[in-house]
Amino acid sequence: MAHAEPLARLNVLCGVDEAWCAAMKDAVRSRLSIDATVKRRSTGEILDQVRSEKADPQTDVWWGGTGDAQLQAASEGLLQAYQPPSTAVMLPWADNFFDLSGGRSAGIYAGALGFAYNTELLKQKGLKAPACWKDLLDGTYADAIELADPNSSGTAYTALATLVQLFGEDEAFKFLSRLGANISSYPQSGSAPVKDAAHGDTLIGISFIHDAVTLRQAGYPLEIVAPCEGTGYEIGAVSIVKGAKNLDAARAFVSFALSAEGQATGAAAGQNQVPSNAGASLPPGAPDISMIRMVDYDFATFGSADERRRLLRRFDNEIRGIP
Ligand code: F6P
Repeated sequence: MAHAEPLARLNVLCGVDEAWCAAMKDAVRSRLSIDATVKRRSTGEILDQVRSEKADPQTDVWWGGTGDAQLQAASEGLLQAYQPPSTAVMLPWADNFFDLSGGRSAGIYAGALGFAYNTELLKQKGLKAPACWKDLLDGTYADAIELADPNSSGTAYTALATLVQLFGEDEAFKFLSRLGANISSYPQSGSAPVKDAAHGDTLIGISFIHDAVTLRQAGYPLEIVAPCEGTGYEIGAVSIVKGAKNLDAARAFVSFALSAEGQATGAAAGQNQVPSNAGASLPPGAPDISMIRMVDYDFATFGSADERRRLLRRFDNEIRGIP
């Protein structure tokens, strides 16, 4: 009897939704004969883990999560340069991101930030529907809004950087400080706010719009808002960790993650980000980003290690009261 080839091993830290992490694990097993350990973590937690493993990396691939932290990791020398296959035809924003990372991180999807509210709770409480960032400061929403912690969550860091770009830094911090009066909790993961709003555990969740779309498709009573002042967006990314022990499998994983077929695993797992491969089809429910008023998001500045660290420290000091 012929022996099957042993499967290649791979350790992946996964920044997308659990459902997509699981679907990708299955896909690379059947398509690439890779037996991957895929653990879901929030963006900032992955950066911390990759940094703490620098001397002896246990992670091969960082797949998903907001790209700002992967740009920071690239500048800290934690990522390995990678040449994507010529068959991976990327949209211009993904090409720009790849160049910005010095060829160490590749964009795999994009998605706009926004918020969503639970329509049933809003009706029960007899409250007005918010349409703008500034509406969230209304005293009637006291203890009724969630935003994740930007130290752990790339979503919440995108919110912080977006507000700075929209209003200017000091005004953004004044806004966040007043918003703090309405925030009931700062969870660890960026999609927790809209998940909690979907379940009626909070009224309003600030998260990526595509996560809210996924929940609404599942039947939850959510109304999704692209804020009237404009908003920011993420480029989700994939990278190979410097010193990865399973380099061949890591390269094969990243090529797959950049291919149209690999990116289709997102839609198949019910996800709604915009894929970076020009040949990948858009999930039918994906928000039309071109219809959303968007800031000219400055990934170079807000993905730089110094700026990211400085803004997070200021957030801890001024908003969370952490010295
Ligand atoms: O749920 C998927 C997602 O919104 C991705 O699009 C994004 O990159 C990631 O979550 C961010 O997660 P977190 O805010 O927990 O770092």
